[in-house]
Amino acid sequence: RLDVTETFCQITFPGHLHTQESLRYATDFQFRDTDTLIVTYPKSGTTWMQQALTLLFNRGDATVSQTVPNWARAPWLEQYYCPEVLKASQGPRIITTHLPYHLLAPSLQGSRAKVIYVTRNPKDVAVSYYHFHKMANFLPQPGSFEVFLNKFLDGTLNYGSWFDHVKGWTSQAKDNRNFFYITYEDMWQDLKGSLERISTFLQCPLEAEELNSTQRHCSFSSMKENAMVNYTQISEEIMDHSKGQFMRKGKIGDWKTMFTEEQSRHFDQVFESEMESSQLRFVWAY
Ligand code: PPS
Repeated sequence: RLDVTETFCQITFPGHLHTQESLRYATDFQFRDTDTLIVTYPKSGTTWMQQALTLLFNRGDATVSQTVPNWARAPWLEQYYCPEVLKASQGPRIITTHLPYHLLAPSLQGSRAKVIYVTRNPKDVAVSYYHFHKMANFLPQPGSFEVFLNKFLDGTLNYGSWFDHVKGWTSQAKDNRNFFYITYEDMWQDLKGSLERISTFLQCPLEAEELNSTQRHCSFSSMKENAMVNYTQISEEIMDHSKGQFMRKGKIGDWKTMFTEEQSRHFDQVFESEMESSQLRFVWAY
């Protein structure tokens, strides 16, 4: 069975990619000041940001983004193959993580590694995550959307609570020059402007043509066709492509096709109460 889970600090992780050792490696990790860490709750724009950073660091040259799989150029810190990938990497490292803030806070303390945090409308995250559970054989079968949504709101899915993730990571954003916050919706509405802001944060200014090329290779249509980011190279045993596509819709507001009015109302109530203590004000482009 592929869909076994690994529990670490009361959060479950897919067992085929995570072990106690790999999770311990992540929490004990020594960041370098030259590292850039992409942080997301699953289905929030991780692959999109991996692609954006690869292209920005390569000044719009698409060679790497078309020949090296995303996990090999921006490995997930908590997944078992990460040490091997980082050992072989040269130059500034792009590292990815879905871990909640409290697990990485100690190792980030005192480091000047840059952190890019991407969030997405949690209703769209829930829908995307639901469809992903159907095609990913390493995740438990999701059951009905109603059942799945309740698990999302309870924070019992793999990688834990969306609310805790967002509150934890954004709680230390204030006055932190090494932390950059952006939403999937920002990127969706203004990809070029978002890429410019990211390149300024990374102190990696691009010429107009380099930026145009970065934008082109980060479009949904381009990424959907790019085997290095669309997961079509992954075996059927792990991802069943007859049940869906990783690059599924790439839209904002898709939750409206799944949520009933009652589910949406209930979600809003939980959101209000969970996010009450957060300074963040989301303006989702519903
Ligand atoms: S994962 O499994 O956590 O790494 O998934 P993640 O990459 O965070 O999220 C996958 C969703 O992001 C969409 N996506 C994009 N949308 C718009 N433009 C671009 N370029 C793009 N690249 C990825 C992808 O389609 C998934 O969303 P849904 O809503 O399921 O389509």
